[in-house]
Amino acid sequence: MLDNKLGITSSVEFANEEEKITKLNALKLFDSKKIDKIEVGTFKGLSEIHNYLFSDIYTFAGNIRKENIAKGNFRFASCMYLEDVLKKIDDMPQDNFENIIKKYVEMNIAHPFREGNGRSTRIWLDLILKKELNKVVDWSKLNKEDYLLAMERSPVKDLEIRLLIQNALTNKINDRQVFMKGIDTSYQYEGYNTYSMNDIDNM
Ligand SMILES: Nc1ncnc2c1ncn2[C@@H]1O[C@H](COP(=O)(O)OP(=O)(O)OP(=O)(O)O)[C@@H](O)[C@H]1O
Ligand SMILES: [Mg+2]
Repeated sequence: MLDNKLGITSSVEFANEEEKITKLNALKLFDSKKIDKIEVGTFKGLSEIHNYLFSDIYTFAGNIRKENIAKGNFRFASCMYLEDVLKKIDDMPQDNFENIIKKYVEMNIAHPFREGNGRSTRIWLDLILKKELNKVVDWSKLNKEDYLLAMERSPVKDLEIRLLIQNALTNKINDRQVFMKGIDTSYQYEGYNTYSMNDIDNM
């Protein structure tokens, strides 16, 4: 468990509070329409999303990590090159579906934050798909194991994640329920399922 602004030392309690607070922030991002003002397809935009979700929790919200991090056998981009890598990713094309997935895969390899990369980068991906293709991912159609296996594979070959996401696209781009179910699923991928977005909405 990382240092947090909440002063919580129990990791279970912290995970639950983090889920509640950041899901509420995600809902506010959507309902306030601030989500429509985020820069699309750049690290700046991703940083805005990360900051919006996590600024109540972490002092590093929105900031590039200064540590190297790994998951399974994969080490994400070295923090020595991270700034350069992020500039290159900004310049990657996003003019068609294949290029958008390539860009998403590279941003995942960059993993620019100390924590919260998966959840913020999926929102970032949806904003690119929305702007460029008038589509978003209906994440609830994309099973956790399939998704995570395809992401593990993606630095080597992006075909699997591309097909999975292609089959989960929807044109309901401004649908609040699609957004809320998407956040719930995105959090489930990372092991958070104590509060649903409907619970949060009714609090
Ligand atoms: N072995 C892997 N190789 C490449 N990408 C991976 C791997 N495992 C997970 N991912 C991708 O990274 C995302 C999040 O992974 P990780 O738990 O490292 O990030 P995080 O910073 O803790 O983000 P969050 O807090 O949102 O979970 C996953 O949802 C998936 O997209
Ligand atoms: Mg995490």
